[in-house]
Amino acid sequence: MLRIINVVGARPNFMKIAPVIDEMRRRLDRFEPLIVHTGQHYDESMSDRFFEDLKIPRPDINLEVGSGSHSELTARVMIEFEQVLLKHRADWVVVVGDVNSTMAAAIVAAKMRIRVAHVEAGLRSRDRSMPEEINRVVTDALADLLLTPSRDASENLLREGVTPEKIRFVGNVMIDTLHRNLERARSSRVLDRLSLKPGEFCAMTLHRPSNVDDSETLAGILDALQAIGDRLPIVFPVHPRTRERLREFGFNQRLRKQTSLIITEPLGYLDFLQLYSNSRLVLTDSGGIQEETTALGIPCLTLRENTERPITVVQGTNRVVGSDPEVIKREAFAAFERSDRPARLPELWDGHAAIRIVDAIEEANQ
Ligand code: UD1
Repeated sequence: MLRIINVVGARPNFMKIAPVIDEMRRRLDRFEPLIVHTGQHYDESMSDRFFEDLKIPRPDINLEVGSGSHSELTARVMIEFEQVLLKHRADWVVVVGDVNSTMAAAIVAAKMRIRVAHVEAGLRSRDRSMPEEINRVVTDALADLLLTPSRDASENLLREGVTPEKIRFVGNVMIDTLHRNLERARSSRVLDRLSLKPGEFCAMTLHRPSNVDDSETLAGILDALQAIGDRLPIVFPVHPRTRERLREFGFNQRLRKQTSLIITEPLGYLDFLQLYSNSRLVLTDSGGIQEETTALGIPCLTLRENTERPITVVQGTNRVVGSDPEVIKREAFAAFERSDRPARLPELWDGHAAIRIVDAIEEANQ
């Protein structure tokens, strides 16, 4: 019996772990999966809602670390997670994605000589000003099994000197979640609630420190949204960090005047899926949304200088446009003119990644 401790902490982790847990629970004769939630994200709208939407079992343990600086958060997860591993024997620790909780848990497990499997290994933006890049590099350096979503990710690891035996190209597990929930999302009432018609609005998310922590950059993006909004309304579910900055910089009054910007609380998985899958264009600085829009053939503008997911640009519908308002406007208007670029679905984004992930963990034990 393999005792597996699956670690999640922040919103983008939940859609990656859901199908993996499901698959382990299909093999309960061989697997004993536990779920540890670090508590990095704790708001109902950033955490609990996803467990409900994605039918993930309640976490067995919640470390309740809360918010803090990067070092505080990482340190708190490490201290608490070490206690968990001392108390609960584990054969493997499974970490997903690139948030602070991912790296913290990987460090603790590696130091205790418990094997680490990293789901979504090998992605690189080569931009160390992004905290997630540091988390990716450290986690991959420590992991015993590196489960990659795309061939470019495997190549990155080989170039860094990782032994090929540790790398398994398994495909994109988030697409498993997307496939499983597309039908269910169709019963979401979000479009009615916001009085939207399919294809006649844009969807937007924004929370990267590089975009929202600097008042000039954020003001520039709001300018661009104003101009784009004159053509099509933009639905903007606001992340807690962004909400805080908008308040701090005194932008709330201005937002109230931008009537083409439809501001909402962060949406759950099913509502957001129903929203963006019906949108004309997505503007985002998220990682996962670049992939989800590619999978569904929805045009996407990524408001960042680079991406760790180049396959979404090479094969998919994504364009990396940075945060210059003129470029954002130009690209958005161009996207409105273009008929959709047919996206080529990247290899192994086929809805069966979780099976390959759990197979790989089993095989690594033989
Ligand atoms: C984290 C991840 C990022 C991911 C994002 C998705 C890291 C380094 N970053 O960024 O990769 O794209 O999650 O959301 O791990 N807050 C709340 N309620 C919550 C959570 C956060 O109010 O439930 C507020 C707090 O003020 C907190 C701030 O948001 O200080 C930032 O939270 P944090 O988890 O540090 O980073 P995110 O920006 O959410």
